[in-house]
Parts: sequence; C-alpha cells; structure tokens
Amino acid sequence: MPKLKTVFICQQCGYQSAKWLGRCPDCENWNTLVEEVQTAQEEPSRYNLSSGEKPRSLSEIEISKQLREPTQIKELDRILGGGIVAGSVILVGGEPGIGKSTLLLQASAKLSENQGIVLYVSGEESMRQTKLRADRLGKIPKNLYIVSETNVVLIAEYIKKYKPSCVVIDSIQVLYNPELSSSAGSVSQVRECSGMLIALAKATNIPIFLVGHVTKEGSLAGPRVLEHMVDTVLYFEGQRHISFRILRAVKNRFGSTNEIGVFQMTGYGLEEVENPSQLFLSQRPKQAAGSVVVPCIEGTRPLLVEIQALVSNSNLAMPRRWSSGLDYNRISLLIAVLEKRVGLGLVNQDIFVNVAGGVKIQEPAIDLAIAVAVASSLKEVPVDPENIVLGEIGLSAEVRAVTFAESRIKEAQRLGFKRCIISKNNLKDIKIKGDIDLLGVETVNQALEIALKR
Ligand code: TYD
Ligand code: MG
Repeated sequence: MPKLKTVFICQQCGYQSAKWLGRCPDCENWNTLVEEVQTAQEEPSRYNLSSGEKPRSLSEIEISKQLREPTQIKELDRILGGGIVAGSVILVGGEPGIGKSTLLLQASAKLSENQGIVLYVSGEESMRQTKLRADRLGKIPKNLYIVSETNVVLIAEYIKKYKPSCVVIDSIQVLYNPELSSSAGSVSQVRECSGMLIALAKATNIPIFLVGHVTKEGSLAGPRVLEHMVDTVLYFEGQRHISFRILRAVKNRFGSTNEIGVFQMTGYGLEEVENPSQLFLSQRPKQAAGSVVVPCIEGTRPLLVEIQALVSNSNLAMPRRWSSGLDYNRISLLIAVLEKRVGLGLVNQDIFVNVAGGVKIQEPAIDLAIAVAVASSLKEVPVDPENIVLGEIGLSAEVRAVTFAESRIKEAQRLGFKRCIISKNNLKDIKIKGDIDLLGVETVNQALEIALKR
C-alpha cells in the first residue's frame, strides 16, 4: 500500500499547503483551498517537456506553408485567427449544457471530411450517446473516430497509434492518470493530464481541443494554471433559455483576443449566425422610451445591440440600481454624471439597464447610448428608431471620440439606420458616403437635446 497524505491545493493558482487555510497566501483568494489525498512519494511530473532541441537563430527557422487548418465553421475559424494551428492546444470552457460537446463534434465532423482522421475522446458520454448526438447533427464522416476513455495514458497511446489530424478531449476534468492517487477532476489530476497532452501536442504537432467545465463563480474548475498552459482559451457564453451562444477568445497566442463568434442552438446542432446585428435587433420595440441602439465592437467586428433602460419612481430609501450585460460601476458613474452635470432628477428613481439578447459589453463607447436610454425612459420620450448613438462620456459630461467609428457606422448604415449621434471629435476622420447623417455633439446635454426632440 502506498503511503497516503492529505494536502490542500488552491484551485486558482495550484498553491499547496499541509493544512487548510481560509485564504490562499499566494493568490490571496478566499475559500479556494480544497482537500486532496495523494500518495506520499508522488513525483511532480512524469512526462518529459523537453524537446531536445538546441538554441538556433530565429531567422533560420522555417515554417511550413500550411500553418492553419480551417475548421470550415466560419465563426470558429474567425475566433481562432483563421483556423487551427498545428500542435496548438485549445481550451474550450463553458457552463454545462451550453453546447461545448455539440460544437466540437460538429467541428470534428467537418475536419475529418477534409483532413483525415479526427479522434473524439468522450469521457463523459458513452460511445452510443455520442453517436445519438452525432445523428442529430447530420451525416457522420468515416474518418471521425470516437473512443470513450478517461485514462490519459491510454489516450496518449491512441493518439500516437492513429496519428489523427486533430483530437478532442471531452472533458479534461474526467481524465485521470493512474499513477496519481487523487481522483479525476482534482487539481493535480487536471494539471498532470493536461500537461501530458500539451507535451504530446507539441511533440507530434497534432492540435488538441480540451473541453473544460466552469464552476459557479465562472472560473474553469481546476487550477487557473490550465489557462496559462494552453495556447488558446475560448469561452462559450450564453443563457440556456436564450438560443444565442457566444464563443469568445479570452487568450490566443495565434490571433486576436476578444473576437467573438455567434451561434444559435437549433434542433440540428449549432448554426452560425452570419448577421448577428440583425438578430440582436430583431425583437426591438419601435417607439418605446428607454430603447437605444449602439454599434459596439467585439474583436474586429461591429455588432449592433439594443440598450434598454427602465426608470421608475422608487419608494425605497436607497433606490435600486440594476444592470445586466453591462458594468455596474460604469452605470453608477453615468447616473452620477446625469444627475450632477445634466441635472436629471434620478435620486429617487429605481434604474434598470439591460443589453437585449444576453450579450455582455464592456467598452466605454456605449456610454452615451446608456445615458440617452436612461434619460429617454425618465422623460418618457422615445428615441427615433432610425438613430444610433455612439460616444464615451467623461466626468464633466463631455462626449469623447470612440475607436473604429467608421466601421461601426458602416454596419449601422447597412442595417438601414439614418442618423448617428456621435462625438464631434470623431467627425473629421469619418469618410462615409451614402445616406446617413452624422450629428456631432460635444456634451451629453447636446446629445439629449437631439435624441429626445419631440
Ligand atoms: P452539449 O453540447 O451537451 O453541452 P455541453 O457539452 O456544453 O455540456 O449541449 C447540450 C444542450 O444542447 C442540451 O440541452 C440539448 C441541446 N441541443 C440542442 O438543442 N440541439 C442539438 O442538436 C443538440 C445536439 C443539443
Ligand atoms: Mg458535454
């Protein structure tokens, strides 16, 4: 019997302690240490990460032309920066039931049609269950191989034997290495198994997708270290009762981050949404107070979304402020600017602000749209449905220029918007032909005057 010992490992950073601590001394997060039983003589790592190469001049290193394999799923390729880079490891995170397995099975099917064998390792579902799912998704190519296995040593053997063009591991949390005594899903197992697979991907040049589940707090279960180890981290976002799904690159060694892909879950798997702006605006009420359209930029792509605000009399001592899809602190700041600089009476009002369609937006270019939506709801004056509003707001209620103004306006033009309220500072750089009026403003007051004209 190997000697067992109990250790406490931080789920965020992998810090190990002999006793339980409420707060990790390394990453300073609370309640992240979990108990694990390990064999006492456990070695840190059993795989060889060294490639045995000597230092060489960077200029002499040649790379093959076929650097990226497109998956043929356009939205996925866009996020990956054009396709899958050979030997790269891509982590796909998301809540259970969001569609990770579905997306990767679809991508595997497409890849196996064009690139040869793709190995889909399904540790969570039996082969029959995966077959049932694949049947829903359409024709199954001959080169799509599946195995239901959780032993990482055997999986590595299969990869070496079949030399697939791509491997999908669904999911990393169910894999285990029999040489470690801790259970599957524990920090040390997740780290050990992914380390082994990453080393294998680099050695064989076979790209590997790892599926990872996300905990309630929104971080990947298992150590955060996983995010540092892999080349690309994609997050699948969305709400289960809304059929849109947004795939977002939060880290990408081979492409830009913050790029998003939009999908819709249907009865036949995930479908790409080629025109997300149209989709997000499709249920917009016309002539409703508190609704404003703003073109935001996600990655390199402009996306039109509807900001909705509801302002109503409050009978609470501390009126409620609530936001969904937007930064709460930013909303508080904008409300303060509207009160102090613009003179709107918001002190005794409950204020709710929402982005329609379940999208999350961070950038400051939507400030002015939020301010106009709040003012529009307070005054019960709708904004013309053919207007878009664009601008960042400063603390003295000045409207500042935004980046990528031209591509944002072009997208709005394409969808038939006729007027754009925008910072005056942006006007000199915009060369747009066609029938969209650009109304330059310097302050929030001027913007409200134009937007809420009866
Ligand atoms: P799944 O890919 O199993 O999610 P994950 O791997 O992220 O846990 O997706 C599960 C959900 O998607 C499930 O609730 C059923 C739904 N679904 C469809 O609506 N249509 C389909 O064609 C498929 C395969 C799944
Ligand atoms: Mg799954």
